[in-house]
Amino acid sequence: MADADLPSGADTTNPADTNPAIEAYFLEERTFPPSEGFKKDALVTGQSMYDEAAEDYRGFWARQALDLIDWYDEWDTILEWDLPFARWFVGGTLNVAYNCLDRHVANGLGDKVAYYWEGEPGDTRTITYAQLLDEVQKFANVLKGMGVTRGDRVAIYMPMIPELPVAMLACTRIGAAHSVVFGGFSSDALRDRINDAEAKVLVTADGGNRRGAVTALKPAADVALADTPSIEHVVVVQRTKNDVEMVDGRDHWYHDVMKDAFPKCEPERMDSEDLLYLLYTSGTTAKPKGIMHTTGGYLTQVAFTHKYVFDLHPDTDVYWCAADIGWVTGHSYIVYGPLANGATSVMYEGTPDCPDKDRWWSIIEKYGVTILYTAPTAIRTFMKWGTQYPEAHDMSSLRLLGSVGEPINPEAWVWYWEHIGGGSCPVVDTWWQTETGAIMISPLPGATTLKPGSATFPLPGISAEVVDDDAKRVDVGGGYLTLTQPWPAMLRGIYGDPERYRDTYWSRFEGRYFAGDGAKLDDDGYLWLLGRVDDVMNVSGHRVSTTEVESALVDHPSVAEAAVVGAKDETTGQAIIAYVTLRGGQEASPERGEELRKHVAVKIGAIARPKTIIFTDDLPKTRSGKIMRRLLRDVAEGRDLGDTTTLADASVVDEIKKRATTSPTEE
Ligand code: WTA
Repeated sequence: MADADLPSGADTTNPADTNPAIEAYFLEERTFPPSEGFKKDALVTGQSMYDEAAEDYRGFWARQALDLIDWYDEWDTILEWDLPFARWFVGGTLNVAYNCLDRHVANGLGDKVAYYWEGEPGDTRTITYAQLLDEVQKFANVLKGMGVTRGDRVAIYMPMIPELPVAMLACTRIGAAHSVVFGGFSSDALRDRINDAEAKVLVTADGGNRRGAVTALKPAADVALADTPSIEHVVVVQRTKNDVEMVDGRDHWYHDVMKDAFPKCEPERMDSEDLLYLLYTSGTTAKPKGIMHTTGGYLTQVAFTHKYVFDLHPDTDVYWCAADIGWVTGHSYIVYGPLANGATSVMYEGTPDCPDKDRWWSIIEKYGVTILYTAPTAIRTFMKWGTQYPEAHDMSSLRLLGSVGEPINPEAWVWYWEHIGGGSCPVVDTWWQTETGAIMISPLPGATTLKPGSATFPLPGISAEVVDDDAKRVDVGGGYLTLTQPWPAMLRGIYGDPERYRDTYWSRFEGRYFAGDGAKLDDDGYLWLLGRVDDVMNVSGHRVSTTEVESALVDHPSVAEAAVVGAKDETTGQAIIAYVTLRGGQEASPERGEELRKHVAVKIGAIARPKTIIFTDDLPKTRSGKIMRRLLRDVAEGRDLGDTTTLADASVVDEIKKRATTSPTEE
């Protein structure tokens, strides 16, 4: 690569002198201030909440805990912080199910809809707060009858049906911790998680509906159950009526055990720091980590963020988080946040393309959804499918959009804003993790001027900094995203492995939490997430983030989605290989590839110009929709593929391998 290709000022002779941890190339200058119309009714419009929190973050969170949550006993100490171990609201007692259900019913909201549920085949259920409370009390008694007591663990392996939140809330009512295992995971994954948690009971279903077919869950659970000595009972919800075997004495139909269940169950008074749930993060290679979340701090922060980030008006909003409850997004923003706030939510069982690619938009129209929260992977898929699907529906009820799970490319953000939000809904890009439990970095939609692709600022009460390799704070430019003070919903550890907790999150930078993301700060102090630091490429000594090159590709009007990796290269160390999915109606061709390479060079600089562009209809993704760049690196470097168990659709990689060997490469 010739020096002339580098952005002006780039030093190729001794990169170490000037090299930031990650360089910043992409410049996005569009801004979207909150409209007067939105501000008129917004919960937060100014800076005062930020100022108040900055003055005393402990006091700030204590005020939120009092304002948003009902406690049996108030705490003695707001926070005990013995790095890396935090205890919030120490001495306080509460019950999560009580906060999510009983208190709303007691306040006269029993007839309010908690969930509009829609099954993939089109069947529907409307569940009020009073009905949910009835069901939860009964199921709590079922669990008790099976010997589950305070402190036990219950595994849950279910499709997106109302019995899933019922099972979770029943656990919290009696003080048992749940461990929800995503229904798309294999028997092996279920077995390992059950065994690590030593769960006593498994709650599952015969199956669920997905893309027009039945996914059998109980048969998969049976394979796991052959090797899970801690399980004493299995409860099976009948959803799809596929054939299942029931083991006498161990397996019970949900509808049978619920028939005679006693209708009242007093909520347990739980300690603020009692374990609320485990959620395993599927490390791609290592053993999954059982992320531990506790009660008082978690509920406070999810209720706070759900209320203020989504500007919730519980009397009028119809809120829809389209994630699966098997992920943390569903735990915090389908179940605990919305219910704690007394919101009305939509819950949908199936995929967005069933029976047709406008299913989501028909749901929004049907229920008058006002707030939609989804992931960039979904948005880019909709871009690929084309605007005719949203255009066929009246979505004027929408007033706010959210994004989570990956960096959102500016152009995908603008597409979402324009084609889903009709050009009038703020888009809140929310950064957080399974480990953080709740949203950490995000706009407040009535107060923050948005920049497409930026998660903007840490929320009030949260403190984040970008640092370089030497842990020095970066004020403008790229580096590692760290959190500098404890927050209420933070993970309390990895189940059974305190050392791994310290090593994984608290050892890279002293006194700081670091969980693997790169970020940059622009001149206005806005934060831009740059993807996982493991994915950062090293091109001629320059540390280029995959996110920025992907965003430059998606910036081209023909592109819906792009994944970029660095593959070993004799001249430049790593060469940039881009896998590109075009928008509907666009043709792949060598000329198009050349055009895209040029587009990247113009948009962010020649250093970032991909060496090869490989067109593909699909990208390998995890089941939660994150692009698996590691596999694409293997393909690009001609290696055998490593572990592919977390892959959502294995055939995608075979197709890409074929394309990779036939795509022209610049020499
Ligand atoms: C990524 C999901 C950029 C990030 C709640 C993080 C994001 C990981 C964003 C956690 C965002 C999540 N912008 N990247 N708005 N939100 N991520 O545990 O890499 O499934 O570390 O939690 O997703 O994924 P997890």
